Amino acid sequence: MNVIPRCLHTVRRLSGLCPAVVLSASAHRPVRFFPARCHSWKLTCRSIPKPRPTHPTGVRCMSSTVQIPSDLLFRQLFDYQSYTYTYLLADRQTKEAILIDPVLELVNRDAHLLEDLQLSLKFAVNTHCHADHITGTGELKKRFPGCRSVISEQSGAKADVYITEGDKVAFGSKVLEVLSTPGHTNGCLTFVLHHNERPVLVFTGDALLIRGCGRTDFQEGSSATLYESVHRKILSMPLDTPLYPAHDYTGQTSTTVGEEKMYNARLTKTKEEFIDIMEKLNLPYPKAIDKSLPANMVCGVLEDLPNK
Ligand SMILES: [Fe+2]
Repeated sequence: MNVIPRCLHTVRRLSGLCPAVVLSASAHRPVRFFPARCHSWKLTCRSIPKPRPTHPTGVRCMSSTVQIPSDLLFRQLFDYQSYTYTYLLADRQTKEAILIDPVLELVNRDAHLLEDLQLSLKFAVNTHCHADHITGTGELKKRFPGCRSVISEQSGAKADVYITEGDKVAFGSKVLEVLSTPGHTNGCLTFVLHHNERPVLVFTGDALLIRGCGRTDFQEGSSATLYESVHRKILSMPLDTPLYPAHDYTGQTSTTVGEEKMYNARLTKTKEEFIDIMEKLNLPYPKAIDKSLPANMVCGVLEDLPNK
C-alpha cells in the first residue's frame, strides 16, 4: 500500500487523468483496492491516502549526506547466490584492511582485490554466525597468514578474537565500535565507524535489513529482543546515518536511519505488532543451514569441525 499511493499521485499530477484509468490501461499493477468503475476521478482521488509524512524534523531524508574520511577505503561487494554483502574497509595510509562477512565461494574475488590494492588483511570479521552461507574467513586465513578471525563472544563460535559490546576493531588509524544487537541470533553485532564525532558507516548484519530485518525463528531468534536492539542501538542514531546490511534481496545497497524509521514495514510498528508479524511469517526452513551453521561455528576453518 505504501508504494501505490505515491505512484497514483504522480500519475495524477503528470497526466491529469484518473489514476485508476491510467493504471488499468498501463497494466502497471493490479488495482485491487481501487473501484473498477470510476465515475468521477475527483471523487476517486479523494480516497487516495495522503502522501507519506516527512520525518520528525520536517526534512525528508532519503539519502545520507555524511562524509566518510578521505583516507578510508570502502567497498561493498555482493554475492549473487546468498545475496550477502561483504564489506572491505582499509586505511589508505597504513594499508591495513578488514573484511566484514566474507563468503567462502568469493574468497578469490576478495583476495584478488586485496592484492590489487596492496592491502594487508588484518581481520575477517563476522557480524554473526550465518545460516545461509559459509563464511570465507577460514580460507582467507590460509591465503593471508596475518589475518585473524573475529566474531562475537555470545555467538559460541570458535575464532581467534572474540568481541562484545563496547569493544573496538582497529585497522590502521580507523576503528569500528562494536554494538551488541541480539535478536536474530544471540551473537549478532553491529559495527559503527565514526568520523568527526558522528557515525558515518554502520554495518547492521541481519539485525536490520533495508525495509526489513533478519528472521527470528531459528538459532536463538527472539522478536522482542530484536525489536529492542534495533530501536535502542541503531534507530537511535542521527537520521542521516548510513546503514549497510548483511543482505539485500531487492537490489538495494544501503539505507539510512531516517528512511527505516519511516518506511521499514516491520520496525515502524509497535513491539507487539512486530512480534505478531514475525510469528506469522511462516518462512521455509533455511536451505543451507545444515551445512553452513557447523562450518560457521568454527569460523570457516573446516579442519576444526568436530567430525573431521
Ligand atoms: Fe543471518
